[in-house]
Amino acid sequence: MPENKKVDWAEGKWKEHLIEARKYLWREDSVEMFAKWLPLKQGMRMVDVGCGLGYNGWTYAKYFLSGGSYFGIDISEKLIKEALENSHNWSNGEKVDFQVGNVYDLPYENNFADITICQTLLMHLEHPEKALTEMKRVTKLGGLIVCVEPDNLSSSLRVGYSSLPEISIEERLLLHKVKLTVCEGKKKLGYGDSAIGIKIPKLMQDVGLEGIEMRNNDICHLIQYPYETEKQKQNLEMIKKQNEKTEKADYSNTKKMFLAGGGTEYMFRKYKKIVLNYSSKMKKIIKEQLESDSFFSCYGGSNFFIIRGKKS
Ligand SMILES: C[S@@+](CC[C@H](N)C(=O)[O-])C[C@H]1O[C@@H](n2cnc3c(N)ncnc32)[C@H](O)[C@@H]1O
Repeated sequence: MPENKKVDWAEGKWKEHLIEARKYLWREDSVEMFAKWLPLKQGMRMVDVGCGLGYNGWTYAKYFLSGGSYFGIDISEKLIKEALENSHNWSNGEKVDFQVGNVYDLPYENNFADITICQTLLMHLEHPEKALTEMKRVTKLGGLIVCVEPDNLSSSLRVGYSSLPEISIEERLLLHKVKLTVCEGKKKLGYGDSAIGIKIPKLMQDVGLEGIEMRNNDICHLIQYPYETEKQKQNLEMIKKQNEKTEKADYSNTKKMFLAGGGTEYMFRKYKKIVLNYSSKMKKIIKEQLESDSFFSCYGGSNFFIIRGKKS
């Protein structure tokens, strides 16, 4: 998914992403395990930076919010307004606060929180180390700093298995090369780092955190008849929607990042041709497979990490 600085997470497909992609992002039993592993305790004060609609609040509320408090902060005024309205559904009368603000300058005093958390925030920032330093500042001595961030680069380089015809090895290598180059370009342009997840333990060490540990998400991306689970149904619906789309994809942002990463105009044309050829050929095949329930796809898990460090 192309991303840049000007992304407004309160709008259109970005906002939809915050809702749809969050529905099955972490499994209920994993959340319970992480709550024990961190560990969360009732009565804690949590600051959630780049909170969006408050995902970390409602996801972990039952493990810390009784007698505790939640402070969500986000740069988007619209998201904060909506998050506050929604919070009545999960706050259970406990203290919940949402504020507009910037991760580089958090409006909390030193040593304010027992736990300061972010999810898919650092990956979009130009200066993740500054954000982490600020998260550390507002966390109490002995408190936790928790980052939930993916490595979308290695995830996108994995090899899947599906009911669709394969492209050649040369073409696949070219697609990978473009992804690697786009990732480099994105960083150079200051749009963030899609592979940040894997770098966070080192970043945490650099800002002086201790007791650093990380875990991975256990979700696997499987779609296979009879498409029984809610997650499979949701994925199938997304594929259907995508396949029915008639408007042309906009490659301008990807191209900008690719060129910034050192790619050439010639290679980008080649890449675009492969993608457009493949997707126009696949349209009919996907439609037929969806109608005959023969579509399947398995591409393993994602590298989506939860990393914790301690301020000591
Ligand atoms: C991918 S969304 C994640 C939202 C939420 N954590 C979740 O997982 O659903 C990234 C969020 O970070 C916010 N954001 C981006 N830059 C920020 C900054 N400098 N300070 C605070 N929030 C920021 C965006 O408005 C957006 O809501």
